[in-house]
Amino acid sequence: MNQVVIKSEQDIEKMRVAGRLASEVLDFITPHVKAGITTGELDRLCHDFMVEVQGTVPAPLNYCPPGHSPYPKSICTSVNHQICHGVPGEKLLKNGDIVNLDITVIKEGYHGDTSRMFIVGEGSIAARRLCQLTFEAMWRGIEQVRPGATLGDIGYAIQTFAEGVGYSVVREFCGHGIGTTFHEPPHVMHFGQPGTGLTLRKGMIFTIEPMLNIGKRHIKEMPDGWTIVTKDHSLSAQWEHTVLVTDDGYEVLTVSQGTPPKPAQPSRTT
Ligand code: MF3
Ligand code: CO
Ligand code: CO
Repeated sequence: MNQVVIKSEQDIEKMRVAGRLASEVLDFITPHVKAGITTGELDRLCHDFMVEVQGTVPAPLNYCPPGHSPYPKSICTSVNHQICHGVPGEKLLKNGDIVNLDITVIKEGYHGDTSRMFIVGEGSIAARRLCQLTFEAMWRGIEQVRPGATLGDIGYAIQTFAEGVGYSVVREFCGHGIGTTFHEPPHVMHFGQPGTGLTLRKGMIFTIEPMLNIGKRHIKEMPDGWTIVTKDHSLSAQWEHTVLVTDDGYEVLTVSQGTPPKPAQPSRTT
């Protein structure tokens, strides 16, 4: 099956619950993201919150797509030049680090997938700008979503914004359909041409999760078989939401009390 699933109203209600729960894990962990904690401790705190408080299943744990070893942890923690799928471990966070925490929970068989950037301590101007503009790039993509728009419209909005402010867009990883499976069609590229690719229809649910690098776009996989880093070791940032196509636009499903609001107006980029 390579068809994009159109979700029913019952599916959508379950996806709202899963999306909120994923976002609430990020709310829960936020006060713990401080200098001196290890990424492994963040993983354990999130794991216990998901399993014991929420009654959710951490989708990454033992996730094993073709050609991979089972993912060994419950969340992804990608620090500084790590782009995505950073495996939690002994790494100690220090002031000035930037870290993406990517959470996917399963509740009653349905997945919610979301990530945010955290800055440890104050952070450099360059790091803060990257995190802020990557957030805005995600929102440029989200705001394209409506019935009749295409996946190319989303990719084009993200790519032109990102490259316009001097960053590169990672090509090897993309957003994805999501529902009772973690990753399903379609692939949601973060680059592209307007008016091309799949036409969006009401009831589709997919993630938008751009990865932007200060340096070049090229990637390298680490020997752990999961962690992806920038080849030039430049800083990288990512934000992710799970989004539903509605009658006349979009609904972000991965929302909770602590979700950062969408940018009020296009921010200055110089
Ligand atoms: N949450 C990631 C995504 O946004 C996927 C992580 S897969 C894992 O698609 F195995 F690395 F956890
Ligand atoms: Co995702
Ligand atoms: Co994710």
